[in-house]
Amino acid sequence: MEYSTIMVLTLMRVVMGYSTLPPRDACYTMVPSHGVSAQTGANPYQIVMSKDTYSPSETIQVSLQGIASGTQFRGFMIQIRSIYASYYAPLGSFAAQAGVGNPCDWAAATHQQTGQVDKPFINLTWTAPDKNVGSILFLYTVVQNADTFWVNEPSSILEYLDKINKPIGCGSTVSCIMPRNCSQNCQYSVQWRPTKNNTVVEFEVKRKTSSPNYYMALGFSEDLQMGHDSVTECVTFNGVPKTLSSYNTEYGRYKNNTNLAVI
Ligand SMILES: *[C@@H]1O[C@H](CO)[C@@H](O)[C@H](O)[C@H]1NC(C)=O
Ligand SMILES: *[C@@H]1O[C@H](CO)[C@@H](O)[C@H](O)[C@H]1NC(C)=O
Ligand SMILES: *[C@@H]1O[C@H](CO)[C@@H](O)[C@H](O)[C@H]1NC(C)=O
Ligand SMILES: *[C@@H]1O[C@H](CO)[C@@H](O)[C@H](O)[C@H]1NC(C)=O
Repeated sequence: MEYSTIMVLTLMRVVMGYSTLPPRDACYTMVPSHGVSAQTGANPYQIVMSKDTYSPSETIQVSLQGIASGTQFRGFMIQIRSIYASYYAPLGSFAAQAGVGNPCDWAAATHQQTGQVDKPFINLTWTAPDKNVGSILFLYTVVQNADTFWVNEPSSILEYLDKINKPIGCGSTVSCIMPRNCSQNCQYSVQWRPTKNNTVVEFEVKRKTSSPNYYMALGFSEDLQMGHDSVTECVTFNGVPKTLSSYNTEYGRYKNNTNLAVI
């Protein structure tokens, strides 16, 4: 009697470890029920993303792989989480693909029928939410074999980046400057409109960057050359933005900006 009980438990453990999909319960904890504890030492795996920013509905390649080539794994579960939250949320979606499934009620990617197969990487296509959901990251559990797995490991952070599109009414109801021939997902935009009482003109300047150190400057000039201009700057240093204003005195060698299209 004692002997047959042990037999059944051993069989069950093997079956659970290599199930077609991880059980739904694992969606909450990311812990495989393999009857042993997760590894606490250095994680030999990583998530590599094609970008470190996302824009609304943008697709991003997400690859789970060994840090050293030749490091393989069998099972995996990848979920997305806000860096501010301790719970998962339906953020974006993973494209369907052979060998990948999702037992969870929200966006997740896990092995499906492939939890027994050694693999050097799994490449997934993830589509971002259609709006700004703040800074997010991928959390993953990776199973090297039934007894050796790492749980709840974070990827690097994916920051939101607004898409800069040509504003509606550009040239009629609002004045704007866009990079030449660009109307969608451009590098920058400048738009301005007078307020109703015609005493104040409001400017909006946008620039695409993922750098923590950058500036945008808008100069007001009586001619098409630099020099004798009133300039307003938005300067971001170490991620902290500041607005400044300055005046360009005589410029040694006038430079024209030939990249601008004024509409
Ligand atoms: C998987 O993604 C990695 C980037 O991490 C890339 O180097 C590799 O070529 C991709 N493999 C396939 C088969 O798409
Ligand atoms: C902008 O579009 C026009 C017309 O399609 C084309 O002739 C021109 O080469 C384009 N300019 C740039 C900078 O792409
Ligand atoms: C004009 O409108 C702007 C923006 O709404 C406001 O700041 C400003 O005080 C107004 N000026 C006058 C003279 O009403
Ligand atoms: C820059 O603008 C000035 C004044 O409009 C013009 O004389 C000059 O040829 C321009 N230079 C270039 C390189 O376009």
